[in-house]
Amino acid sequence: MECWPWRVVVVLGVLAGICWADARRRRFKHIASLRGKHVVITGGSSGIGLSIAQQCAAEGAYLTLIARTLPKLEDARRHIIASLNLPTDSIRLKSVDVGNAEAVAVAIRDSFEWRPIDVLVCSAGILQPNFVEDMKPSRLEEVTRTNILGVMFPIQSTIPLMKTRSAHHPSSIVIVGSLSACVFLYGTNIYSPTKCALKGLAELLKFELLPYKIGVTLSCPSFTQTPMLAEAFDEAEEFVAMGEKIYLVAIKELPDDVARFTIEGFKRNEFFVSTTYQGVLVRTLGRGFVPPDSFLTLLVEVLLIVPLRILTFMWGIYAKHVLLTNEVPIKRKV
Ligand SMILES: NC(=O)c1ccc[n+]([C@@H]2O[C@H](COP(=O)([O-])OP(=O)(O)OC[C@H]3O[C@@H](n4cnc5c(N)ncnc54)[C@H](OP(=O)(O)O)[C@@H]3O)[C@@H](O)[C@H]2O)c1
Repeated sequence: MECWPWRVVVVLGVLAGICWADARRRRFKHIASLRGKHVVITGGSSGIGLSIAQQCAAEGAYLTLIARTLPKLEDARRHIIASLNLPTDSIRLKSVDVGNAEAVAVAIRDSFEWRPIDVLVCSAGILQPNFVEDMKPSRLEEVTRTNILGVMFPIQSTIPLMKTRSAHHPSSIVIVGSLSACVFLYGTNIYSPTKCALKGLAELLKFELLPYKIGVTLSCPSFTQTPMLAEAFDEAEEFVAMGEKIYLVAIKELPDDVARFTIEGFKRNEFFVSTTYQGVLVRTLGRGFVPPDSFLTLLVEVLLIVPLRILTFMWGIYAKHVLLTNEVPIKRKV
């Protein structure tokens, strides 16, 4: 009996030792620097994609930005070049709809011929708030095509090209998902399901690409101050307000912070990047079968999982109360 304090000390010592060894291992970076690397970013003309582009360019990367609207792409290029004093030819633009498989394949092949692709960031995505039964099939198709196939198509075109040089050049595929991949987002219709699909895709790719030096990172931001969120507020303030009430989350992240976490994450080849503390909690609940990226993360998640499960039970009661007692938004856009 008397020796139990020593046992505790030994267990804590062993855990601290493992954490230390793990931290040393994690100092190794899959991609040490972005200087001279080629980063292709879908959705690179706005919001999170633009912030990632700006920060990669600041580290010396060459960029290809892909989006539909050419003037927005040109504005983005002008903005990055002026703020960092870069030569114009360090950024190429592709005006392409990511939902168009052939156009995407041509754009990716052409980008690779310009410079081999080291990192592909899939950030293009759309959100059209509405109740499940209220969205027109054509809009459902548009969101599904953009958010799922629009991520799948660039990845499909890029993987074989990355594989040709992966033995000597570590590369990364980055999917900008959302916390709504792990928790439904009230009033967003097909958006949450598309982000769940991206989580599944990222898990699949992580293991399919394990034999190659091609990392896979799923970045899951929370509400972020971008044109997409501003538009969602404009279009359906009630949905967003009700969402905030249900989740008790009124915080909005800055796209620059999301970009910083995402870049650090893919450089370290982390799989699941969450960019806020709520993200860590939601990730713990929604991780599924994929193992944590570090021993410390494993330890934190083991300690959190039981209290969090209890919390979700209590949250269920609270959410029902909010939905049944408040004026639930009924303004429906069809
Ligand atoms: N903002 C948030 O609260 C939040 C939270 C979590 C996750 N996310 C995710 O983060 C990603 C970026 O969102 P954001 O907030 O930065 O949005 P944003 O500011 O509206 O930017 C979206 C970008 O995607 C491009 N895009 C949209 N549809 C496209 C298509 N079919 N083909 C090619 N490009 C297309 C847009 O350019 P064009 O319109 O010119 O094509 C734009 O460059 C999305 O995947 C979103 O789901 C956002």
